[in-house]
Amino acid sequence: MSGTLLRCDDRHALATTLDPSRSAGEQIAFVPTMGALHHGHIALVERAATLAPTVVASIFVNPTQFDAAADLAAYPRTLDADLALLADAAARTGVRLVAYVPNVADVYPDGPATTLHVGEVTEHLCGASRPGHFDGVATVVDALLRAVRPTVLVMGRKDHQQLVVVRRLVAMQGHDVVVDAAPTVRDDDGVAVSSRNRLLDDAARAAARRIPRALAAGVAVVRAARTDGAPVDPEAVRDAAHAVLDGEDLRIDYLETADPDRIVPVDGSLASDGRLLLAVAVHVASAHPDAPPTVRLIDNVLLGDVEDEQRLLDAVGE
Ligand code: PAJ
Repeated sequence: MSGTLLRCDDRHALATTLDPSRSAGEQIAFVPTMGALHHGHIALVERAATLAPTVVASIFVNPTQFDAAADLAAYPRTLDADLALLADAAARTGVRLVAYVPNVADVYPDGPATTLHVGEVTEHLCGASRPGHFDGVATVVDALLRAVRPTVLVMGRKDHQQLVVVRRLVAMQGHDVVVDAAPTVRDDDGVAVSSRNRLLDDAARAAARRIPRALAAGVAVVRAARTDGAPVDPEAVRDAAHAVLDGEDLRIDYLETADPDRIVPVDGSLASDGRLLLAVAVHVASAHPDAPPTVRLIDNVLLGDVEDEQRLLDAVGE
């Protein structure tokens, strides 16, 4: 029924629910999540609702993509609130929304022993600091795609490298699905919405506010180059971002300029309208009772994508 939320806890129930839509040749859009849903996730669900009459949102905290047991243990789990948010989204959008809430055995019937590896795009940025993380992401997304068999897969640009990994996975495994990229949703202070933000105390949140501002400083460098018709110097972009971000209240994991499709660092200058990913990961200390000793936050902007640049500038009020 349209406008309602259905819950399926295993892939058999899911198949029974989705098969009529599939046989009728209807589109099925899929939004994979790890729960702890926020308005960034809901924006993805709403976008999916414009693409298909049936939307599946999975809620599964995937153990194989966490490198630290403490991070997995601290990952927020808020299933009742998640289902309430999805029910609201179903009513608002009028789609048939299916919450797929599997357990580990349903996702990995043979155990998570077989892992997929998609190569070069996983070597740098988050791939370098979280060994094995993207193998876990690729493995779970592959398993979820087999269970859901959607026609459209909606992923957030906030996790740009993950989006690229999933695009490669889809090509590599021959999944018959269109990958749709949704813009990053930010709070009023510019901070990208994340499930981990609820683990930040006030001081950590204040430090986190410098992340989008640092990215905006990178945008300013590129815009100045564009105005002058001059090439963009990635080092100047990184320096401008560091000048805003650096401080004793956070530890930078990486601040990198990279090719947005290959996810390899870029150092040589490029045309002022060339595309360059400016990506950041930091650790901030937080005294929040549920937080691990530090909380890891990531963000990025796609320089040369004028819309993405502008959305970021608007969000930080510049
Ligand atoms: P999760 O962190 O829950 O994110 C689920 C989806 O929401 C991802 O596509 C992510 O990019 C998107 N998202 C998160 N915050 C967003 C924001 N502020 N704006 C726009 N989109 C946002 O990413 C994962 O889960 C997992 O790795 C997963 C793909 C589900 C595999 O386990």
